[in-house]
Amino acid sequence: MKNKKAVQAGGKLYIAGEYSILTPGQTAIIQFIPIYMQAEIQPASTYRIQSDMFPFAVDLTPNTDYALIQETVHLMNAYLQSQGVAISPFDLRIGGKFEREGKKFGIGSSGSVVLLTLKAMAALYDFPLPADLLFRLACLVLIQRGDNGSMGDLACIAYEGLVSYRSFDRRALADQLQDQDFDRRALADQLQDQDLDQVLALDWGYEIRPLSPQLSYTFLVGWTQEPAISRDLINRVRSAIGPVFLKGTEQAVQDLLVAFQEADRDLAWSSIGRASDLLLSLNEVIYTKKLAQLKRAEEGLKVIAKSSGAGGGDCGIALAFEEAAAQEIVRRWQEAGIDLLYSERMGEYDDQPKG
Ligand code: PMV
Ligand code: MG
Repeated sequence: MKNKKAVQAGGKLYIAGEYSILTPGQTAIIQFIPIYMQAEIQPASTYRIQSDMFPFAVDLTPNTDYALIQETVHLMNAYLQSQGVAISPFDLRIGGKFEREGKKFGIGSSGSVVLLTLKAMAALYDFPLPADLLFRLACLVLIQRGDNGSMGDLACIAYEGLVSYRSFDRRALADQLQDQDFDRRALADQLQDQDLDQVLALDWGYEIRPLSPQLSYTFLVGWTQEPAISRDLINRVRSAIGPVFLKGTEQAVQDLLVAFQEADRDLAWSSIGRASDLLLSLNEVIYTKKLAQLKRAEEGLKVIAKSSGAGGGDCGIALAFEEAAAQEIVRRWQEAGIDLLYSERMGEYDDQPKG
């Protein structure tokens, strides 16, 4: 384990099911975005952690800026020890902020940092870390920090692909940890080897399914260049989430899964449209002026567009069912000051020259 190891972690964007997924048992469809953060790790005599987010390095002395990474290191150290790994200090460098000209994209950076750190440490010790275990360990880090998210970002980025994710009851898991007299703020220190194993072995009640759509489309990401903080948006929007929104969104998500499977373009179109309408009626902070423009740019084209994730800025997505339509919406976005951040052809594309 003397060598330097390099790992990476990507980003994610919601296609459908955002906000609804905060309620346990609801489903979301989340697309992996292969724009990566990188980490390099090697053994060292003392701990040294350096992220390009901050102009200084730290060891494991608690530091507010580095708390997320440090807590990940503590949890992973506890886990590795529980598995009989002899842990030792390392030098960890993290780079590749999800931003352009100092403005963040909003494709999932805090979750990515946790996954990246876990992957780096696993690589250092040549310790195999399957996607599901990676997901669970990352969830424990975020739940112990009191994160208010659904963990859907972790599911998608850990599995590195388009997934459907059914959420679990994070509060129940946190309570369970507390019931066992664990201090939530120091979960890693409190969890004895066996306890950590027990928690990881429980049925948390989520489901993560990798998807390979039979439907052909171009997936497009438009970036509004307006940074948004999901945590704050969740706090503003949460109280509006009710049974009508949940039922309608779940139906739209399930319909979209069928549409992917059965290559049903009309159903994909209508289900994403319904998911978008439900977001629009949920709270006015979601569709900013720019996101409304991003959506309106679909008019008259074989394209369906919507806000993605918490909204209030960041990114929107579109599924284009013809190459010319994809080009036209990108042109309209550019006119409105919306950057094409990423595009990917999915399934067998109709416009491809045959033979
Ligand atoms: O804005 P994003 O891409 O971080 O997505 C947030 C999605 C929410 O459902 C609003 C919150 C969550 O953690 O699921
Ligand atoms: Mg966002």
